[in-house]
Amino acid sequence: MKKQIEQLSAYQPGLSPRALKEAYGIEGELYKLASNENLYGPSPKVKEAIQSHLDELHFYPETGSPLIKEAISKHLDVDASRILFGAGLDEVILMISRAVLTVGDKIVTSEMTFGQYYHNAIVESANVTQVPLNKGYFDLEGILAEIDDDTKLVWLCNPNNPTGTYVPHDELQQFLQRVPSHIPVIIDEAYVEFVTADDFPNTLALQQQFSNAFLLRTFSKAYGLAGMRIGYVVAAKEAIEKWNIIRPPFNVGRLSEYAALAALEDQAYLTSIRERNAQERAKFFELENSNAFYPSQTNFVYINTNKPHDLYEAFLNVGCITREFPNGVRITIGFPEHNDKMIEVLKHFDL
Ligand SMILES: Cc1ncc(COP(=O)(O)O)c(C=O)c1O
Repeated sequence: MKKQIEQLSAYQPGLSPRALKEAYGIEGELYKLASNENLYGPSPKVKEAIQSHLDELHFYPETGSPLIKEAISKHLDVDASRILFGAGLDEVILMISRAVLTVGDKIVTSEMTFGQYYHNAIVESANVTQVPLNKGYFDLEGILAEIDDDTKLVWLCNPNNPTGTYVPHDELQQFLQRVPSHIPVIIDEAYVEFVTADDFPNTLALQQQFSNAFLLRTFSKAYGLAGMRIGYVVAAKEAIEKWNIIRPPFNVGRLSEYAALAALEDQAYLTSIRERNAQERAKFFELENSNAFYPSQTNFVYINTNKPHDLYEAFLNVGCITREFPNGVRITIGFPEHNDKMIEVLKHFDL
């Protein structure tokens, strides 16, 4: 066994609704608002697509997910040779870490960001520098100061999970100008389809200027396909060729590829999801105590409080399962009836 695995623990999913009901003696229904899933689910066209391929379950998928690769290539106007698919971004992050990192290498990222950058770096015997957030935002100056000769990857999460904050276009551009061009800067845009801010980066345009700016996207969030496990990276062709060598041959399931194709085609549905989410998100920021929340461009809101467990339990008492952090609680924006319940709690909670 690799020694460094002892310093990690397996992913802790939190208690299931059933276990929580038992532990807290809750009678009514519980809503899972802890994992930033899209409660509306995918486009109805996805179900039709899956149903029409149910007779193919005994066949392996086509290696490399060529159909959805071609569709994404057209959708984003990037060459298909620059795209690689994984069973969710979780697998993409694993593949990149596995391909790039070895003993003594270093990654630089932020504290309070998506945990898999750290987790996979440790598995590969690399060192991790986590720069503290600056008032809930990625501290790009701090990250630049930590980049050295050992640095092999820089991870940005934009918008960031769990804070929901983002780095705007100009700041990202200036940052990329200052990172040595041989160091990949991997920009995880898992939540990009929820963004409504005008100054959010056009990362595809930045990629034309900076060949080391790599982009991650997923079908798990706004497209509503978390259960299908499909996400991708857009990077330099040379990097994709290398990473593809370590990709498990049939990593993305057959139905996942068809589901993603149908979801991608229904852009009108995606727009309606973005609009509904933005409308509901705005309701939280109308609250008097919303200065305790980080501004969010995503489908979740991070609420700073020095009583995170009390707040978590207050949400639970109205049937909402949220995610507790050491200094706050992250809630996933749900249906209006869920959000209204959480808003009622927040109105009366002394953060
Ligand atoms: C920022 C970020 N990146 C990646 C992922 C993983 O997404 P996927 O479902 O595509 O593996 C998540 C999931 O929560 C996330 O929040």
